[in-house]
Amino acid sequence: MDKFVIRGGNPLVGTIRVGGAKNAALPAMAASILTEEPVILENIPDVRDIQTERSLLVSMGAEVELGYGRASHRTTLCCRNLVNPEAAYELVKTMRASTLVLGPLVARMGRARVSLPGGCAIGARPIDLHIKGLEKLGAQITQEHGYIEASADRLRGGHITFDKITVTGTEDLMMAATLAEGETLMENCAREPEVADLAALLNKMGARIEGAGTSTIRIHGVEKLHGARHRIIPDRIEAGTFVIAGALTGGDLIVANCDPLHLGALLEKLQECGVKVRTNGESVRVIADSQLRAADVSTEEYPGFPTDMQAQYMTLATQAEGTSVVTENIFENRFMHAQELVRMGANIKVEGSRAVVRGKTPLSSAAVQCSDLRASASLVIAALVADGVLSPMAKPFSIASTTLIAAMSVLKKNCVALARRSGASAKCFRVEPPHR
Ligand code: EPZ
Repeated sequence: MDKFVIRGGNPLVGTIRVGGAKNAALPAMAASILTEEPVILENIPDVRDIQTERSLLVSMGAEVELGYGRASHRTTLCCRNLVNPEAAYELVKTMRASTLVLGPLVARMGRARVSLPGGCAIGARPIDLHIKGLEKLGAQITQEHGYIEASADRLRGGHITFDKITVTGTEDLMMAATLAEGETLMENCAREPEVADLAALLNKMGARIEGAGTSTIRIHGVEKLHGARHRIIPDRIEAGTFVIAGALTGGDLIVANCDPLHLGALLEKLQECGVKVRTNGESVRVIADSQLRAADVSTEEYPGFPTDMQAQYMTLATQAEGTSVVTENIFENRFMHAQELVRMGANIKVEGSRAVVRGKTPLSSAAVQCSDLRASASLVIAALVADGVLSPMAKPFSIASTTLIAAMSVLKKNCVALARRSGASAKCFRVEPPHR
């Protein structure tokens, strides 16, 4: 079992640069399936899910050259010789976003065999809306042995109204509709910046998409798509996580290379908590020099408060004066971090989709379990203000420690950089990989 050792206790001061968005890079890589020409993506983040996506595409016959460390992290993908339109369970079970290949494979290859993702730590997360939408575009779909089998000579345009707003559902069907015959109208779509970023790439590849980023998207199908080059947007959740770390540690932090417009709901909420926030072009500065005040929050689809920031916000609420009610409206089981924070001394009562957080309570170090990526980030942040040395441990079955290592090492790298810039010693944050 992997664990980390964190020694907190110092305010974060200095500048941190944010990487490319994981949740924009994954659909963009899947979009390369739609053409036989090379697609070049820049600003691809160095996280484990990108490796998984690469393995998935390579298993189908694609050539993928990941470009970490090269200028702008340029990654080249070519799906000229796709021979095996299948997403195997072994890969899909480690990363649900693998299902994003379903629409592109049916659209380009006329058939796909994709494993159902199964359950997840934060909720059931079915993909019924992806399937329903593909059927609306004329695909024949059967399900057996845990796999979806989809086929269509050529998809045809249709009218899709999502029963529920779904991010990857919108992305999957938008990709499929680019090569469909005729026009597709999609309503009640997700408006996340990652959806608009994907549409920007697809339009560069020759697609004809209007309205991405709004709840109504219109796609005029084309015969063929070509290669393109695209820079992935910054990761607003990584940026938000650092913003909260800065606010919580009473620091003065500049989070650079991000898009403050994508962080609207979070920054508004932090100002309600008494955090000074200044935005400037591609950076956000947080100055937390006064006692944090409690404030309620409810997660919603974009542009509302993101569910992927809920856990990190809960940690902040444990250090705010007063009672904050945190309501989770997107996923039915996304409070796994609450009990771990209670183990550290927080006062949190979970009642169904609401968590009542009473603060401020001092946090003390404890061994804690990480259930998913964002829950892990909330515990790492908690460690920054806990007394003593904390060691979050990755649950063996749910989160690959490499993802946590990636998150932690980004944080560590930045803390060391921070410390160096602010003259503080690097001892403010120490990560020890597990003893094998
Ligand atoms: C995307 O997941 C993100 N993942 C998630 O980030 C994020 O939490 C989520 O959107 C919400 O913002 C990626 O982009 C790769 P949904 P997605 O479909 O698309 C239900 C992270 O930490 N639903 O918008 O899978 C579903 O169960 C991850 O980076 C159906 O019922 O989420 C949920 O309750 C975690 N049927 C709601 O809709 C469907 O077919 C929203 O889910 C699809 C979804």
